[in-house]
Amino acid sequence: MSQILIHDLCKSYPNRRKKQRITTDETPYEPIAVLDHVNIKVSPGHLTCILGPSGCGKSTLLMIVAGFDKPTSGKVLINNKPITGPTSDNMFVFQQGGLFPWLTVAQNVELGLRNLQDQKEKWDKIYEAIKMVGLKGFEDHYPEQLSGGMKRRAELARALVVNPKLLIMDEPFSGLDFLTHLRMREEVVNMHELCHQTILIVTHDIDDAIAIGDHLIVMTDRPSRVKMEHIIEPGHPRNYEKDKEIAELREEIFFTLGVHYAV
Ligand SMILES: Nc1ncnc2c1ncn2[C@@H]1O[C@H](COP(=O)(O)OP(=O)(O)O)[C@@H](O)[C@H]1O
Ligand SMILES: [Mg+2]
Repeated sequence: MSQILIHDLCKSYPNRRKKQRITTDETPYEPIAVLDHVNIKVSPGHLTCILGPSGCGKSTLLMIVAGFDKPTSGKVLINNKPITGPTSDNMFVFQQGGLFPWLTVAQNVELGLRNLQDQKEKWDKIYEAIKMVGLKGFEDHYPEQLSGGMKRRAELARALVVNPKLLIMDEPFSGLDFLTHLRMREEVVNMHELCHQTILIVTHDIDDAIAIGDHLIVMTDRPSRVKMEHIIEPGHPRNYEKDKEIAELREEIFFTLGVHYAV
């Protein structure tokens, strides 16, 4: 299980728009500030959800944690080691559309286990992961032969088979139909209860975060800061329609995000 410390992280992107007034000692372009002194601690074994409005910098934050992007200032430590670049060391980044179209489901899942020499052990693990996500019987199908939800499940199997200590997911349920969305949510919770990995999910969906997160972090609009944090008592399923505490938390998050008429 991994611990993530995000310490005083700032990120700005260069801007194409020129400043109104240019002085000699400054760059003529005003940078776009995306992350503004962000401090987050992700505890080992927690399922942490980072929530924020669209465009606030959630994906940027994940890309920095995964080592694919660099902060402007501040640092990220994983198990007390600074992140200096992409590393597959016990970390898996779940990406939508990450299946290779020319490989079958089983071959796609196999990619995570390239280095495993023992063929029997390897294929046992692959078939087990495929079964766990409900794709038994579709091992030899190509991605184009699967529905959107099935593709997402195959992507989840890829994460499962690696059994990473840290799983990073960017909007893992977006674009799924309602029922598949709920089932995928359940599968992530089941996987977490079974394997206790540290999972970091970013999402704009408040109900997803409340339904699955142990630790919720709410970000502001860009330039994004942490505005609210909440640890939810363990236990699933959670239902804001039946649980008053969860309903109040949901309302508080909507208010924090500037929505006052959430239904
Ligand atoms: N490579 C980039 N260059 C310039 N600006 C970027 C780049 N990537 C993201 N941004 C800007 O950073 C902001 C946050 O983007 P992003 O992290 O994708 O937001 P979110 O995932 O919260 O929707 C957006 O305003 C976007 O325009
Ligand atoms: Mg995003």
